[in-house]
Amino acid sequence: MNLKVRLLLASLFVTGTCVLLMRHTPDNCLFPSEKPCSCEKVLPVVNKWSMPQFNKSVEPFLSAEHKLSEEAFSWWQHLQLEKRDFSTYIKTVEKLFQIFPSHNADLLEPSPDHYRRCAVVGNSGNLKGSRYGPLIDNHDIIARMNSGPTEGFEADVGTRTTHRIVYPESALDCDNTTHFVLVPFKIQDLEWLMKAFTTGFSGRSYMPVKSQIKANKDLVMVLNPAFMWYVHDMWLEKKGRYPSTGFMALVVALHICDEVHVFGYGADHDGNWSHYWEKLQNKNLKTGVHPGTQEYDIIQELAKQQKLKFYTGL
Ligand code: C5P
Repeated sequence: MNLKVRLLLASLFVTGTCVLLMRHTPDNCLFPSEKPCSCEKVLPVVNKWSMPQFNKSVEPFLSAEHKLSEEAFSWWQHLQLEKRDFSTYIKTVEKLFQIFPSHNADLLEPSPDHYRRCAVVGNSGNLKGSRYGPLIDNHDIIARMNSGPTEGFEADVGTRTTHRIVYPESALDCDNTTHFVLVPFKIQDLEWLMKAFTTGFSGRSYMPVKSQIKANKDLVMVLNPAFMWYVHDMWLEKKGRYPSTGFMALVVALHICDEVHVFGYGADHDGNWSHYWEKLQNKNLKTGVHPGTQEYDIIQELAKQQKLKFYTGL
């Protein structure tokens, strides 16, 4: 048998095996629950980068090398009424990377050798009684937001957290293996980060902030203000004042993960973003400054287009 024929037979065998595997994927399961074999990388995945709202070149996280545009800064500085100027921002970021690592080596682009399944877990009350815990725990990356607890809610939300996404007013201590991911809304948030991991922060914000944070300094990451702008501009078409932490986390996941599984998103029947661990106190908050309805509609649309899997809870 000459080489050409052998190659043809081998490729027919691989294709046949893949077709068989695809046939045996249960209909109600968009993504396989185990890590995929190399065959699954040839599944007819629609190229997400071809969608108009995706821009691969916007970096999700800040690094020492990243140069924020003045245009992005001027959008960002209005979010929480930042009064200081662009050069103060630049100097602050320079100081930041004298304390924290500037690389995100483990979060580079997905590659065939590094298949990444991500669970993005919002704080919706629809997680209550969902029993999603084991499903959530079976991911490579498990991102949780703000104060969303696991203790006492393991059956519904799981136990593992690889990334905790917070802003200073919602921050909490993390264990040594969890990435502490800051979403900064003002220059003071970057200053807070440096102080909270070193000498302690004594300033004020619109809510009390923790003076010290216990978490692994080497795993700290900071969301890029340019990415926040991109989510507002491209994904939400400028709806709302700015995107919710959860929606930004979801778009980050779409950028860096091969599979995105979404849990804990969705308002209650009155349109409030209630939480799975507490009784809602203020029924007038709705979804705050964030365009909750648009965010939810986009998640549903992405699920329909099989760009992510959306678990809608109870
Ligand atoms: O309420 P909190 O901001 O801590 O929740 C984290 C994220 O989860 C929100 O930013 C939002 O995107 C999402 N969320 C939701 N529906 C809820 C509560 C939260 O979609 N009922």
